[in-house]
Formats: sequence, structure tokens, C-alpha cells
Amino acid sequence: MSKFTKDFLFGGATSSNQVEGGWNEGGKGFSHLDAIKFNPDDDTSNPIHSIISKKSILEAIEEKDPTYYPKRRGSDFYHRYKEDIKLFSEMGWKVYRLSIEWARIFPNGDDLTPNEEGLKFYDDVFKELRAHNIKIFVTVSHYSMPINLVLKYGGWINRKLIDFYQNYFQTLFDRYKDIVDIWLPFNEINISQMKPFWNNGLFEEDYKDKYNEANYQALHHLFLANALAVKYAHENKKDVQIGSMVAGRINYPATCKPEDMLAAQYENRIKLYFYYDVTARGYYPEYMKTYFKKHNINLKFEKDDEEILKNGTVNFLSFSYYFTENAQDYPGKYDEVVSWKIESKNPYFEKSDWGWGIDPKGLRWTLNEFYDRYKLPIFISENGLGAYDVLTKDNKIHDDYRINYLKEHIREMGNAIEEGIPVIGYTVWGAIDLVSAGTNEMSKRYGFIYVDSDDLGNGTYDRYKKDSFDWYKNVIKSNGENLD
Ligand code: BG6
Repeated sequence: MSKFTKDFLFGGATSSNQVEGGWNEGGKGFSHLDAIKFNPDDDTSNPIHSIISKKSILEAIEEKDPTYYPKRRGSDFYHRYKEDIKLFSEMGWKVYRLSIEWARIFPNGDDLTPNEEGLKFYDDVFKELRAHNIKIFVTVSHYSMPINLVLKYGGWINRKLIDFYQNYFQTLFDRYKDIVDIWLPFNEINISQMKPFWNNGLFEEDYKDKYNEANYQALHHLFLANALAVKYAHENKKDVQIGSMVAGRINYPATCKPEDMLAAQYENRIKLYFYYDVTARGYYPEYMKTYFKKHNINLKFEKDDEEILKNGTVNFLSFSYYFTENAQDYPGKYDEVVSWKIESKNPYFEKSDWGWGIDPKGLRWTLNEFYDRYKLPIFISENGLGAYDVLTKDNKIHDDYRINYLKEHIREMGNAIEEGIPVIGYTVWGAIDLVSAGTNEMSKRYGFIYVDSDDLGNGTYDRYKKDSFDWYKNVIKSNGENLD
């Protein structure tokens, strides 16, 4: 018997800025991620990578040639969504998690009325998904925002963005509340501190040593926008499913040394639980207030803010899962330093082509930890393996490494379900090859479907099924029972 419930949602996930392309079509405005340049020398394990200068953004806006701006091309889903959805359906997907590109709907972010042509694109995509009986899981904001909100308003540090976002959210919700099955107001809300420009649209050069404080203030506005969206959804649709998502990088203690244990607890709170505590419990926890005091971070709260957070809590949790981390005592400072660097030092793991530690059991551990703490259903909205794939002369891709990776993760998810964790769905990340969020490469491939394009956009963009395509089809057909 399958460990998965009969209505368990197996499927795939993508984001608009990584898959769509069509960056200047259909009345779309310029998204801030359209301005991020591909640089083969970038080191994504280093948070410095996320520091982007205003000058580089202004230059990018002037540059009309998309060659070095891969997110302008994505995988050309904008023109090929019918073909792609047909392939998703062939695999038997029950659900597709996709995001809406804010600048397609409000090209400048502060427009008074939405761009009907942009909405029409999503009408068509949703219609196609419905026709194939695939449920729709929408992320309203998966990092990207109209560049105007960055340049004119300074990003999420500006409280006005809460109103602009509400206008955006409510436009989508009013139009799609009977079509979209699951909602996420924001992708990985904890990335706000790790990749501040991506998430918050703040330039470090404007804040210098106050950058940390500024990003927490921006985050406060994101939390308020999230809570108001959740409240609106609850008020306007009975039994709506609306959740909160984090990048689920849980920390193990590096050793059983008590200081390492405390370091792990500390990092898990600051990097993970804080975000769920606010969005699922509805308040800032004590440990965070202590952290702010210690780091001289003074946030501006307005009179109703606490009430807003309290009244806008989500009804499911969601997270992406790629790896776990290890926390260790930074000599004598285990309760002060937070490391945002991705580095797998765990000797028990094999690593991906990009050095990410492979830890299927960590998924089971994470599910148990999150459920014990919040007692809410959980949707694993991302999991997958970024790898170099090879297209053979006869147009095949033999990706048994991906099959092995997914197999072990699905097995551990099944074990967690058997332990009593209410996991409601699982969407494999980058289910069709897309541009990497972190490195801007096309060659970091996650998909079941290969897209013929290189990092600079050379190629036909034709689609080819990888070996994992048929494997996943069988997994879904057997409702997770047949993993071999
Ligand atoms: C998640 C993001 O953090 O990780 C995705 O939500 C991203 O957008 C995924 O693509 C994998 O990261 P990367 O850098 O390999 O694309």
C-alpha cells in the first residue's frame, strides 16, 4: 500500500523569472532580475554575490541585447507553454507550482490599473492546465519585482510597497480565486536576509553598516504584506489554502559539543523559525527581539502592525529542500554569529556538481521538526538536483543521478508520512530546465525535460525527455509506491 494519501499532489515547480522569457512582450515592464548579468566567475556560495550596484542595474536597463541576461530568455515558456503543459500532463502531474511575474501585471508596480495583456497570458496558461486536469499552485512573488519599485521607491524598505503588493495580490486573487487551488504570497521569505537585493531590492551602497537593519525593516514590510494578503484571501474565499514558504536549510550541530548544539539552535531560529513564527504564529518571537537588541537593530513598527501580523496567519507550511547545514561554535560566539554561506562540511554527504550536500534523511528530519513545532500541513514546494546533463547524439539524456537523488528524497518523505507528518504535496524543482536563480546559468539543469539552450542562449530551445521523465511518470502512476 502506498504511504501517500490518494489525493497526494505530486508535480513540478518553476518560477516566472527563470522559465518564461518574453521579457519585453505583452506589455510587461522591466523586472529587477532582468538586470542581473550572467558571470561565469560568480561564486554563489558567497553572500557577497548578492551585492549589486546601482550602476550595474542602470547599465543593464540600457543594454537591449539579452545575451548576458539569461532571465530575459528563461526557457521560452512564454511562447511554448502549451507544449510544456502537455509534457507535464504526460508525466501525470497532479499539480504545477508556478509564479506570476509582477511586472507583467503591473509593469511599473505603482500603476493604477493592471495590464490586461499580462493577465490574459495567465488566463491562457491556467485554462490549459485545467484542461489537463492539473491543479494550480501559484507563488505571487518569486523574487522578481518591477524595477521601478527598486529605483523610484528603494524596494521593500519603503512602506508604500505594502500597498502596491496588496493591489497586485488582490487583482490576482479576485480574478483567479476559483481557478487557483493553492497560494503562496512569497517564495522563500527567509532569503530576504541572504540575498537582499533579489528579495528586498535594496542596494548595499545606500546603507553601508546599516544594511542589516535596513533589510530587517524591509522584511517587516514583507511580513505585513504577507499577513494582509493572507487575511484578504481568508475573507474572500472559504477554505482557501494559503501558505508560508522558507528555504528549508535546517542546521545540524557539527558535533555533540554543547556549544555546537546551541549554535545549531541559534541558527535554526534566526534563519528559519523566525520566519514561520511570524507568518504562522503571528508574532515576533523573544529570541529575535534579543537578537535585534544585541545587533543594534531598531525596527519601525506602526501602531497596528502587531495586530496585522496576528490576524494574517497561514494555514499550511511550505519549504524548498536542497540540503542541510552544520552549525558550529564560532569560538565563544555561538549565539552571535549567523553564517549565511552555503558550505557543506558534513563528511557523510556526497555533493552535487555545485557542491551542495546530498542529504535525503535531512528531509525527513526537517519535516518532523517543522510539524512538531507548528502542527500545520506541509507542502514540499521545491526539491531537486542541479546537474550537468549531456544530450546524446540520439537526443537522449541519461540522468540516473537525478533519478537516484529524487528516489531517496521521495522515500524519506514517505517515511516521514508514515511517522505521522501530514505532507500534502511535493513539486520537483525546475521540472523543466530553466535559468538558475543563483548562478544565472542554463547549464545547472534540474528538469525532467531538457531544453536545448546554453548559458548564452544559443540553441533551438527544443524540448527532450530525460530518462527521469518516464521514471517520474511511473512514480506518480503508482502514487509514490514504485520508486524503482
Ligand atoms: C530556490 C529558489 O532557492 O532554489 C529557486 O526558490 C532556485 O528559484 C532553487 O532556482 C535552486 O537554486 P539555484 O541557484 O540552483 O537555481
